[in-house]
Amino acid sequence: MPLITWNDTLSVKITKFDEEHKELVKMINNLHDTVTYAQGFEVVSRTLKELVNYTQTHFKHEEEFLQKCNYSELEAHKEEHRKFVAKITMLWCAITLSSNDVDRGFVEQIFDFQRKYSRELNSSAAYLQDLLGSWLVNHVRKADMKYGAALHGKQP
Ligand SMILES: [Fe+2]
Repeated sequence: MPLITWNDTLSVKITKFDEEHKELVKMINNLHDTVTYAQGFEVVSRTLKELVNYTQTHFKHEEEFLQKCNYSELEAHKEEHRKFVAKITMLWCAITLSSNDVDRGFVEQIFDFQRKYSRELNSSAAYLQDLLGSWLVNHVRKADMKYGAALHGKQP
């Protein structure tokens, strides 16, 4: 089952960004699957790296558009983006280090967690769900909707 399902309640009414958000949802769901089905460090690492790269591209597009429109909350919005990129980059580093056996690592902890608590939590992706799923949905619903409303009718 996908972690996030895109629907109209997530629309910022700017086609380009709705499309990019859908792509992010797809990538987060892929990543969720790689962890849920324990596809191994390398697959998780590669999938997460793709997400990091695409997230940076998408944020750049949004920020360029907001700047062009002289959006008053640009700096606060950029700060949210920056913090999220820092988090997922650290997550990627932790997973990649694990894949090289530098330490036992983060993904194994997630898998252990799944083995111990799967009944209560339903999947190992509880952490990812919290970090990725709720972050994206909350960010789109709050910060992105705000620019959507303020810049209604403008297109990048
Ligand atoms: Fe944003």
